[in-house]
Amino acid sequence: MVTYIDAATAPPRNTGAIRLYGPDGFEGMRRAGQLAARCLDELTHLVRVGTTTLEIDDFVYRFGLDNGAIPATLNYRGYTKSCCTSINHVVCHGIPNDKPLRDGDIVNIDVTLILDGWHGDSSRMYLVGNVKRAAERLVEVTWEALMRGCAAVKPGASTGDIGAAIQDFVEAERCSVVRDFCGHGVGLLFHDSPNILHYGRPGEGVTLKPGMIFTIEPMVNLGRPHVKVLGDGWTAVTRDRSLSAQFEHTVGVTQTGCEIFTLSPAGLHKPPYGI
Ligand code: MF3
Ligand code: CO
Ligand code: CO
Repeated sequence: MVTYIDAATAPPRNTGAIRLYGPDGFEGMRRAGQLAARCLDELTHLVRVGTTTLEIDDFVYRFGLDNGAIPATLNYRGYTKSCCTSINHVVCHGIPNDKPLRDGDIVNIDVTLILDGWHGDSSRMYLVGNVKRAAERLVEVTWEALMRGCAAVKPGASTGDIGAAIQDFVEAERCSVVRDFCGHGVGLLFHDSPNILHYGRPGEGVTLKPGMIFTIEPMVNLGRPHVKVLGDGWTAVTRDRSLSAQFEHTVGVTQTGCEIFTLSPAGLHKPPYGI
C-alpha cells in the first residue's frame, strides 16, 4: 500500500509516504533545479585534459555559495565533497580527488544544490579530449534513456512505466541497466520516497500523481550490470570494469505530463557541448 501526503503539512522525514507538492514547491524546485543546471553549464569549460576533479569540486562549492545555495552532498552521511565525479568504469559516487583528467575519459558530474530548502539534483556526462566511439555511443544511449524515462512521466502512469521505457531502450542497444542504484523522491528532502527503478515492467510500482517530484538517473553499462563499492565506502564501479554512464534530471508530475526542473538553460543537454 502506498500513501500520498500533502508536502506542506507532512513531517520533513522519509516515512515512506509520497509527498505531493503544490505551486510553491514547484516554484522552489524550478529555482533550485535551474541553479544546479546552470552550475553544470558553467563548469563545462573546466572538464578538459589536466583538470583535477578536486578543481571541479571547488567550482561547485564556490558556485553554490555565491548563489545562496549549499551543496547537498557536503557532510551528507559522511561524504565530504560538493559533487560526485565518476570517471569511465565508475558507475556513481566517485569522490573528487587530485588526479588530472586524461585524454579519452568520460566523466559524470553530479550536483545537488539546496536553495531555500529545495534540492535541485542533476548530472551530466562530459567527454575529455578524444573519446572512443564506443564510449561516445554509451553516453548517447544513456542520455536517450533518461529522456525516454522523462517522456513516460504523466498522471496515471506508474514508476514501472518509467523503468520499462529505460530498460527496453537500453537493452535493445545492447547495453545494461544498473540495478543497485535508483532515482528517488526529492524536494524538501534529498532522498525521499518513492524509489524510481530504471528497469521494470509497465504498470508495476507506484501510480504517478500531479505534485510528485523525483529524480530519474539511469546508470548504463557497456558490459554487465553488476557493480561493487570500493573500500572508501562510496565509489561504485562496474565489476567487469566496463564503461558506465549516467544522466540525471529532477522532474515534477504536472496535470498533463512532466516538468523537467534541471534542463540546461544554455542548451548543453548532452555532449559534444561545442565550447
Ligand atoms: N546526487 C546523488 C544522487 O543523485 C547522491 C550523491 S550522495 C553522495 O542521488 F553522498 F554520494 F554524494
Ligand atoms: Co539523485
Ligand atoms: Co544526483
